[in-house]
Amino acid sequence: EHVSEPTSTEGALPQIPLFSDLPRDAFIALFERCPLRRVPEGATIIEQGTRGDAFYVLCAGRVRVLRRIGAEQRELATLGEGAFFGEMALLSGSPRSASVVSASEDTQVLELSARVLADLARRFPPVAKALRRFCRQRLLSDVVN
Ligand code: CMP
Repeated sequence: EHVSEPTSTEGALPQIPLFSDLPRDAFIALFERCPLRRVPEGATIIEQGTRGDAFYVLCAGRVRVLRRIGAEQRELATLGEGAFFGEMALLSGSPRSASVVSASEDTQVLELSARVLADLARRFPPVAKALRRFCRQRLLSDVVN
């Protein structure tokens, strides 16, 4: 019988700056609790305008952040391994501000439910602080883009 390989990056945990101050056991627990999803190139992870209920950490590969305004589509950013996305809708309660699409064949995202993220932010204030800082910066950057 075929047993699929663990999808994680060759057994090694990826470097995630957002989680760099987490105790190792809390970091590992996240990978045990949360699904790690492979996303084929071109597939949409977040769709602009929808309600947000999850947060994503990019464990491998690349994604593009795209905003549609009328008929026009603009690329707001490209994110690489170790980045995160989907925090804005969860922090603000607003619909997804942009679409996020896989831009590589080996994209893997760790999916945290809103509840898991809220719990993490409550237990580890530096995580909450970093989320707010990035959210603010991205919001400002998107206003001019
Ligand atoms: P959210 O609005 O929940 O869903 C789309 C996500 O794209 C958003 O959260 C951010 O995580 C991400 N995003 C939006 N704008 C930028 C940007 N300028 N740079 C990087 N990521 C962004």
